[in-house]
Parts: sequence; structure tokens; C-alpha cells
Amino acid sequence: MRTADWQDYELIDTSSGERLERWGDIILIRPDPQIIWDSEKKDHRWHNAHARYHRSNKGGGHWEPYKNMPDVWPISRKGLTFRLKPMGFKHTGLFPEQAVNWDLATEMIEGAKRPVKVLNLFGYTGAATLACLKAGASVTHVDASKGMVQWAKENAAVSGLAERPVRWLVDDCVKFVQREQRRGNRYDGIIMDPPSYGRGPGGEVWKLEEQLDGLLRLCLSVMSREPLFLVLNSYTTGLSPAVMEYLLKVLMAPKLGGTVSADEIGLLVTYSGMVLPCGNTAIWQGEA
Ligand SMILES: C[S@@+](CC[C@H](N)C(=O)[O-])C[C@H]1O[C@@H](n2cnc3c(N)ncnc32)[C@H](O)[C@@H]1O
Repeated sequence: MRTADWQDYELIDTSSGERLERWGDIILIRPDPQIIWDSEKKDHRWHNAHARYHRSNKGGGHWEPYKNMPDVWPISRKGLTFRLKPMGFKHTGLFPEQAVNWDLATEMIEGAKRPVKVLNLFGYTGAATLACLKAGASVTHVDASKGMVQWAKENAAVSGLAERPVRWLVDDCVKFVQREQRRGNRYDGIIMDPPSYGRGPGGEVWKLEEQLDGLLRLCLSVMSREPLFLVLNSYTTGLSPAVMEYLLKVLMAPKLGGTVSADEIGLLVTYSGMVLPCGNTAIWQGEA
């Protein structure tokens, strides 16, 4: 399993359906349904957190504050700064396990030793975009939510990357790639982290199981002559690393050759020394 190294973020412990996490100096408790073990909560921070997210059985949930905490606060990693805030669906604005993919994209861009154009689909608050910009790529960032794109821009600004070559687009990912195909715009690298279900800004419905194959085919048609990579991450149950590897091999290899690998990604739990799985990533890499 691929795991990321962090200083400002820490998965301290896991027990009884919850994670105990440190985000900078802020301690949060968030639900995680895969934590089916009721291990003893020995770390004092279980009783000393700033806030806890409670799931509602009617859907959604809410944050229960225990202490005063800032509305927004920054954490940093490898020269990038991310602004965090507690939001609906237990989100904070960052998926720390994705750091392995930011590092991978950085390596592939820096290793190319040529100008690299990256397309980041379902870009959320922009962490992958920032990593690619810092590595020297020009990036097209697409997300359906105006608020998320604004947040990503703010993260770029606080990371000192506002002047780098980036296009910020509020758009439906499928429609956008269709238009790029028609316009003849091409990319050397594509990154995507599609949700199981989502909506474009015009109400376009995104259902991963029905549309991922089609979107990947569209992505193939907008890859440059010497493509470098396609990174597909997913949190969708049933989309195992083996399934994702199969999908990329069957779609990409016949047209572009290259190699495909896939694995779980995860976070090291300080208390146990073990790794909590947090999603799956498949990577296609070109031969160049
Ligand atoms: C859970 S996030 C992905 C995680 C993120 N890429 C990361 O690494 O931290 C899903 C994002 O997809 C966006 N989204 C959902 N449906 C979309 C669509 N049809 N077109 C564009 N973006 C969409 C949402 O606005 C949201 O920001």
C-alpha cells in the first residue's frame, strides 16, 4: 500500500467507527465506516478534541464543537499550503492520503524535462493542481462547484503559485473534455478523482459506474502525442485496485502502450503503527 509522509497532518488513532486526526494544531474526530474495531482509546486527545462530526441517520450530519477553533486555518506540506475548514459530509477541504499522488505527479512532471500540460478533473480544492504547478507544469483545473474552484484559487495564492500558468474552470468534466476534443487541445498528463455520484454546474448527472469508461475514452482522445501519465483515484466501493488496473489496461494499452499499476493508498496510524486504507489509485504511464 502507498502511504504519504506528513508533518502537519496526523492520523493519531482509529476506533469504534471514528478517526482521531490532527490537522496542524487542530484535533478533529470524524466518522469512518471501515473502522469496525473497538480498540481501547488510550490517547488523551480522544477526550480533548476541538470538534467531532456526527453522522445523521437521515443523511448528512453536523460538527459538534468542543472548544474554540478558527473558522479557517492553514496546514502545509512540501512548500504547499492548504486552507482547511470543517464542512458538510465530514470534509475539511483536503484528502491527506492523496499526498502520494501529488508526489507521484511531481516526480513525473519534473522527470519529463520538457513543458508538461496537465488536466485535473474533479479538482476539488486544488491540491493536485498546486503540486503540478509547483513541479513546473501548466494546469487546467475543472470542477463543477464555483465555491471549490474559488477555494482552490485561494490555496494557490497562499502557496505562492497564483502567477503560475493555470486555467480555473467551473464546468462539467464530461462536457469540458468533449469540448477540448473538438477544440484540439491536448494534455500530457491527466489526473482525476471522480466521486461515485456528482452533478455538473448545469445539473448534469455524473454516475461513476455508468460514465467512467466513457470519460476515460474521451481522455484518451485528448492526450498529446507523447503522453506521460493518467492518474485515476477512487473512493467508490467495488472499484478495487484490480478493477481499476483492468479498466486502464483495457482502454489505454491497446492505443498508447505504456504500463499500468494500481494499489490501495492509505494513512499510517501513529498509535498502532498500522495503515488505514483510504482509497485506490491506478496509474497509466507512457513509454517516453
Ligand atoms: C470528493 S472531490 C474529489 C477529491 C479531490 N480531487 C482531492 O484529491 O482532494 C469531488 C469533486 O468533484 C466535483 N464534481 C462532482 N461532479 C462533477 C461533474 N459532473 N463535473 C465536474 N466536477 C464534478 C465536486 O464539485 C467535488 O469538488
